[in-house]
Amino acid sequence: MTAFTGRRVVLGICGGIAAYKAIEVCRRLVDGGAHVVPIMTDGATRFIGEVTVSALASEPVRRSLWDAGDPIPHTQLGQQADVIVVAPATARLLSAYAAGYSHDLLTNTLIATRAPVVVCPAMHTEMWEHPAVQENLATLRARGVFVVEPEAGRLAGGDVGTGRLAAPEAILAGIEHALVSSATSVRDLEGLRVLVSAGGTREPIDPVRFLGNRSSGKQGHALAEEAAARGALVTLVTTTELPVSVGIERVAVQTADELHRAVSSRAADQDVVVMAAAVADFTPVHVADAKLKKHDGVPSIELRPTVDVLAELGASRRDGQTIVGFAAETTDVERHARAKLEAKQVDLLVVNDVSAAGVGFEHDTNEVLLLDRSGTGRHVALTDKRRVAAAVIDAVVKLRASGT
Ligand code: CTP
Repeated sequence: MTAFTGRRVVLGICGGIAAYKAIEVCRRLVDGGAHVVPIMTDGATRFIGEVTVSALASEPVRRSLWDAGDPIPHTQLGQQADVIVVAPATARLLSAYAAGYSHDLLTNTLIATRAPVVVCPAMHTEMWEHPAVQENLATLRARGVFVVEPEAGRLAGGDVGTGRLAAPEAILAGIEHALVSSATSVRDLEGLRVLVSAGGTREPIDPVRFLGNRSSGKQGHALAEEAAARGALVTLVTTTELPVSVGIERVAVQTADELHRAVSSRAADQDVVVMAAAVADFTPVHVADAKLKKHDGVPSIELRPTVDVLAELGASRRDGQTIVGFAAETTDVERHARAKLEAKQVDLLVVNDVSAAGVGFEHDTNEVLLLDRSGTGRHVALTDKRRVAAAVIDAVVKLRASGT
């Protein structure tokens, strides 16, 4: 018995030199007891033979949306899959999938599934590092797609760099991880109302300038998506333009005052409030009507404090409400965080050490410490923000179950 025994795995193979390695992945999945349904793109068939894949997989290769005997193959393939893995995933596949552009059987199947999806990119280093590719991957990650990153090594044509398809062992480990994590994702927030704030506020100085911060909003958005996936009715108060899934109510705000109004006017109805936004602590007293000109000299900008929304929520919470705060610290992280937990009377504090590499602002990854008022601390090692979101929601569910 392996993690793959009896599991239905759709294996998408795209057109890249690394397609030959998909044959090994296919063989190992079948050896592990999986039922492998192969889909090849037209490009893939230029690199490896359809006959080879058909012979090793559990079913013949599927290629077309237009087989006469099966008019809607993608919905059936997508609905029946326990997991879909794309190896190798080309830059084009990532782009189409991120955009929801479904032009062939593989992309249609990816859009028509609720099963976990694992993409295993492989391409030349220049392509891998291109911002378009990295942004598409970030979008997919934020939606919960699992990514098995390419390795560094010798590439087609003799170049050396990052972009080589991950080893079969790493791909199998990625598929196993996706199967395990999706099996544990239950609808444990069904019917609860969850409000999440996300992004960094912008405090205008004049019509073109503002005081801002480096928050990207990605962690807050990942929390909203995770809560919605687990059955919550989610309101997302956000300063960003990041996409949100259907079913999440988006409330757009810019300033700390707008965020305060948006959150406090809705707070009473919420079961859980998660303040992931980086809210400005100070805002200009006056906003100039016209652009400040440099020949008028260096302006002195008088600031006033904003409302601490989290502290207000903590002080006015009703019974049964769970309040989650964030803390970005750079020194003496745990001590400052514990003090903040008490001062703001929150139930759970998600603490970032923003001085660490790959953590917090602008990254797709995060590493946090989850602190609750019982003094319990749980460290979540560096991982993508969707999985950090899952750990935060797990902690909220646990706190609510224990009645604290
Ligand atoms: N927060 C808030 N309203 C503000 C400022 C912050 O609701 N005006 C919330 C943030 O959303 C976050 C938490 O407070 O959940 C922590 O913010 P942070 O800036 O780390 O803490 P501060 O209280 O501002 O303390 P300091 O700047 O001294 O670290």
